[in-house]
Amino acid sequence: MGLHAHRLRYVLHDPDEQMLAGLGRHQNAPGTWIKIVGNPIRLRAALPSEWKLADTGYLMTTTYRAASDTPPPSPYTARLQTSGDVVTAAVLDAGGQIAASGRLATANAFGVVDQVETAPAHRRRGLGTVVMRALAPHALRLGADAGVLVATDDGHRLYRTLGWTVRTPIAAAYIPEPRSAAGGAAGGAATS
Ligand SMILES: CC(C)(COP(=O)(O)OP(=O)(O)OC[C@H]1O[C@@H](n2cnc3c(N)ncnc32)[C@H](O)[C@@H]1OP(=O)(O)O)[C@@H](O)C(=O)NCCC(=O)NCCS
Repeated sequence: MGLHAHRLRYVLHDPDEQMLAGLGRHQNAPGTWIKIVGNPIRLRAALPSEWKLADTGYLMTTTYRAASDTPPPSPYTARLQTSGDVVTAAVLDAGGQIAASGRLATANAFGVVDQVETAPAHRRRGLGTVVMRALAPHALRLGADAGVLVATDDGHRLYRTLGWTVRTPIAAAYIPEPRSAAGGAAGGAATS
């Protein structure tokens, strides 16, 4: 990942306890994360105590359907930008500031959504919905009709209203950064 508090991430589909314990002992530099498909209790039991549990995420899927784009409510405007393989949908407020945004990249039949966020002052006005509905047609244009994402608690409430289904919890643990470095330890969010 290369970010403060989020330098290296292991995402493991089906690790056994021995593998988790080995990773936990040897790959324990600050800012390292381990995410597994399944229950956080299993992750807690397998890792040394220096690992902190983060919020559990939700792996969710959907089937993208045509014509699901929705215009933003007044006075907001929508913007779609493509950079390489990534498309970013943004909703701008009346002053041109980003009120909500999200990204999508495709891999074969899969359209993977990431970093969906509505600024706190603009939440519950339908902007997250606008972002998600702007991304879906782009996935379909690229031949990807299978939507996949890992949601936070807030996110999974939004995605459920849009027809997404929870497939499994995603448990996450991390080694915090020392408090003196760039303003504190790692947070506990479990975004994708
Ligand atoms: C999740 C998030 C993007 C939702 O954005 P939003 O612009 O508020 O979403 P919308 O207004 O389009 O919500 C549409 C519907 O989804 C549901 N919903 C969305 N957020 C919800 C929440 N926090 N609690 C309960 N229901 C929620 C509601 O049914 C809502 O309709 P309603 O307001 O008429 O009841 C926003 O809360 C956020 O940025 N959270 C922090 C970052 C984050 O967790 N992002 C998700 C990463 S996976």
